[in-house]
Amino acid sequence: MPAEIKSLIEQIEAIGQAALSEIGSAEGSAGLEELRVRHMGKKSALSQALSGLKDIPGEERKSVGQVANQVKSRIKDALGARLADVEAAERNSQLGSESIDVTLAGRPLPEGRLHPLTRILTEIEDIFIGMGFELASGPDMEHEYQNFDALNIPEAHPARDMHDTFYLHGGGVLRTHTSPVQIRTMQNRTPPMAILAPGKAYRCENADNTHSPVFHQVEGFMIDRKVRFSDLKGVLSEFLRQLLGPDIKYRFRPSYFPFTEPSAEVDILWSVDGRKPDWMEVLGSGMIHPNVLEAGGVDRDQYSGFAFGLGVERFAMLKYGIPSIRLFYENDLRFLGQF
Ligand code: DAH
Repeated sequence: MPAEIKSLIEQIEAIGQAALSEIGSAEGSAGLEELRVRHMGKKSALSQALSGLKDIPGEERKSVGQVANQVKSRIKDALGARLADVEAAERNSQLGSESIDVTLAGRPLPEGRLHPLTRILTEIEDIFIGMGFELASGPDMEHEYQNFDALNIPEAHPARDMHDTFYLHGGGVLRTHTSPVQIRTMQNRTPPMAILAPGKAYRCENADNTHSPVFHQVEGFMIDRKVRFSDLKGVLSEFLRQLLGPDIKYRFRPSYFPFTEPSAEVDILWSVDGRKPDWMEVLGSGMIHPNVLEAGGVDRDQYSGFAFGLGVERFAMLKYGIPSIRLFYENDLRFLGQF
């Protein structure tokens, strides 16, 4: 073998050795990539050493080529093996530095809640719907006739003064209670009927902890042949047990409303703020006055019915322990967020 071929082969092997030792001590995948370009690329020392190969005659060119190929594939294998090690090391150190502390407290996601009035109203509706009642509604702006006269409250009746009415320009009132829905519903349906009518009521009074010029009521009534006071007691007792618990203590106390005869108010034995339980009035009720049935177009000789009205805010205040009616309308998220 001629001396210059021998020296070319030695040169190629030396290039290979140098490359392998550089690769062995390379740090990081970026450094390895740089080595790959330098040792495998077109301008590598190896390519340059082989640039004269085409001038070498057949047999000798073959042996130089063989050595060059071996060196190339050793460099390539070394690069691949080192790259796998380096990448594994990089992944491990990344995982180490990015580790997640699963014991860290979560960040709260803001979440919408039902308004306490919506919540108690839904509970009340569900209970009566469960007993076969249907929902109905009427307008907030009402005729004086529906709000008063048809409910057996004639012009000079003292109950009109008690209601602190908002009178509208051009006639009419803001309804002072939901009872006019009784009249409207009777006029549009034929008995039997069991109706629940939730809605707003308005009274011209100053706001304080227990009063608000606008508040919510639920009106309920049932009309059929032979509806009796015991039906009223049964339905309202069941309602109170479902809403406030099976052990709730309640009493029906004789009272007066122009639109019912006889009339009863219902009290519950309730403890406010952990104090000694006391009787609290929670709703008005009675047997629908025959004059009211007549105003609604119901035959007073064939049919009878009971009716009741309750304040939604009052029930929410008792059940959830809310100290002032104003809290319902102030939209303070610290209050609303508790429900
Ligand atoms: N409408 C009455 C009020 O607002 C509440 C009421 C009492 C409604 C007795 C009734 C009832 O249906 O029978 O003060």
